[in-house]
Amino acid sequence: MRNLVPSWIRVPVVFFIIFGAVEFFVDSGEKPAFIEYPSVLLFLLLVLLILIAIEAIIGALENVMLHKLDEDAKARFLAEKEKSFKFTWLKETYQKLLGSKPIEEEGEIVLDHNYDGIKELDNNLPPWWVYSFYISIVFAAVYLLRYHVFDGNNQVDELEIELADARIALEEYKKTAKDLVDFNTVTLLTDTGDLSSGKNIFETNCVACHMADGGGGIGPNLTDEHWILGGGIKNVFKTISEGGRSGKGMIAWKAQLKPSEMAQVASYVLSFQGTTPANPKAAEGDIWVNEDNTITDNLVTD
Ligand code: HEC
Repeated sequence: MRNLVPSWIRVPVVFFIIFGAVEFFVDSGEKPAFIEYPSVLLFLLLVLLILIAIEAIIGALENVMLHKLDEDAKARFLAEKEKSFKFTWLKETYQKLLGSKPIEEEGEIVLDHNYDGIKELDNNLPPWWVYSFYISIVFAAVYLLRYHVFDGNNQVDELEIELADARIALEEYKKTAKDLVDFNTVTLLTDTGDLSSGKNIFETNCVACHMADGGGGIGPNLTDEHWILGGGIKNVFKTISEGGRSGKGMIAWKAQLKPSEMAQVASYVLSFQGTTPANPKAAEGDIWVNEDNTITDNLVTD
């Protein structure tokens, strides 16, 4: 085998096999192991060095041996070596895989059928074909048992499993990525931390028009159950995010507040419900009765 593959192929092949094995076995996360752990790089360099050294030593030994041979043996050795470099091994394997007789021997397998001078050769089926066929039979049997007898997951099941996993992952992700909320997905926050952040945001941005207790001024009263643009967390979030009717003075806050902040302040606004402000502004809009918390088309411009 050694003589069959020249060293300039042997060294890289062995090296990359070891390299691949290292990448496979060393758990280095997203990055390749040799970048994550510099010691791995050192190890690989050492391996390469040793491989080259082995080749050099064997080459040197061969040289020494060659000097000891007489002329005849030397010539024979070199011829042998020369031959092996021409990939005779590959060629032979290919021939074997093909399984056909060389043209010189075809006389042995020609059949007695003669159609207007066209004769039939009885070549063996190529082994690569025969073995692929056997493998496909085994595969079919395993497949049949697994999916038709033991009810393995079909594509639809697999899709559903993956979708379920993805949904769980998405939920997990949403928990950490609070800024993904919009008025379709927002839910009322009840956490005291969120509400006190909401209070801060309200006191910084909103009190000028809505008063600190939500009683209203330029903007409407936020404590009653009447809403001009729809109540419930989704509508309130949408009003804050997209603004009120044009010309009324309530701007779209999405340019200044993050989605998570708008969710906090919207939840804080809703915590005014049922409180009694010092100077309540007269109720405007309709009583909000939508129990299932759907979104109204509240961006009418009039
Ligand atoms: C410049 C004054 C002004 C500021 C500041 C302001 N608002 Fe308003 N807000 C208004 C006006 C005016 C309306 C009524 C809009 C309309 O009629 O379309 C309104 C409407 C609303 C509504 C809808 C009320 C309803 O009845 O449907 C909510 C909720 C609201 N504001 C919350 C906020 C929040 C939260 C902030 C701070 C981030 C804020 N507003 C800042 C003026 C303001």
